[in-house]
Amino acid sequence: MRAVVTGGAGFIGSHIVDGLLASGSDVLVLDDLSRGRESNLDPRARLAKIDVRDGDAVNKEILEFSPEVVFHLAAQIDVRTSMAQPAHDAHTNVIGSLNVFAAAHAAGVRRVVNTSTGGAIYGETDTVPTPETAPARPLSAYGLGKHTAERYASWFGQTHGLQVTTLRYGNVYGPRQDPKGDAGVIAILCDRALSGTAPTIFGDGRQTRDYVYVGDIVAANLAAARSTTLPHQTYNIGTGTEIDLLELTAAVASAAGMPADRFAPDFQPARPGEVRRSCLEVSRARRDLRLAGPTPLAMGLHSTLGWIRSVTL
Ligand SMILES: NC(=O)c1ccc[n+]([C@@H]2O[C@H](COP(=O)([O-])OP(=O)(O)OC[C@H]3O[C@@H](n4cnc5c(N)ncnc54)[C@H](O)[C@@H]3O)[C@@H](O)[C@H]2O)c1
Repeated sequence: MRAVVTGGAGFIGSHIVDGLLASGSDVLVLDDLSRGRESNLDPRARLAKIDVRDGDAVNKEILEFSPEVVFHLAAQIDVRTSMAQPAHDAHTNVIGSLNVFAAAHAAGVRRVVNTSTGGAIYGETDTVPTPETAPARPLSAYGLGKHTAERYASWFGQTHGLQVTTLRYGNVYGPRQDPKGDAGVIAILCDRALSGTAPTIFGDGRQTRDYVYVGDIVAANLAAARSTTLPHQTYNIGTGTEIDLLELTAAVASAAGMPADRFAPDFQPARPGEVRRSCLEVSRARRDLRLAGPTPLAMGLHSTLGWIRSVTL
């Protein structure tokens, strides 16, 4: 298939590019390299260094390449940045998404696979694991922007017949996630374990998340792209298993071969605005996208630790 991947030089996007190339696709990546890296990219993928906020540039690249499918991942991903600079966040995550949907429609693509978020859209909820039908109650400007982009995707469907499938991810982890960044808890914990530094836990460590391995995200994206008929517009992509930070810290210590007492957390006051429990109900995606069971945490941690060792040595 001919595919455009926006944000394809980033952590998740570059794995989708690899999955597409492995199945013989021609791939064009649109990325401004604000966070992504050229070194994440297989040289067989073509890179156009453009900003999705630039509608003319997005239109030109997508029309010229004439893809069958567009995977839209380019985004401002930092929740704290979204709180401090909501207009900047909306510019990339709402206007940028609109530009991509409009260009996809103009180029007559068969399907757009749009990227969204579970936890940041559902917010604090009584139903855990949370199904797609739960009301959106975003706490952050990031969640609000992602939900707004989803609604524009539906609007493009209703008004122009554009097929957009939105995948709402849990907390994604795996190789190429920035271990020095702020967003990827598992990358940070693995980095700390390998450098022998105590992990920092904000709050009591009983906050839960749904940690999903990046390989499972690739499988879901490829399945959504290949499917010709999907009964729903929105799918949760996660594991359906809730893990708290203390359990996660112990699992990282064990995967790194450390006794748990040598990786004892440094507890700091809880950060305001953090959701207490987050876990996705994933039966809709498993059924409609025919997904295999999720990668076990121990296996995903093993590959993440292996990658961090390889880049820090
Ligand atoms: N990592 C997670 O746990 C997670 C969870 C839910 C949803 N998501 C979503 O998955 C997608 C990919 O996230 P990631 O974790 O790989 O982050 P990432 O920062 O590694 O990837 C985002 C990519 O988008 C590019 N980008 C940013 N702004 C751009 C712009 N204006 N124009 C063009 N390119 C731009 C960056 O350079 C980067 O390569 C995002 O849409 C994010 O919101 C991620």
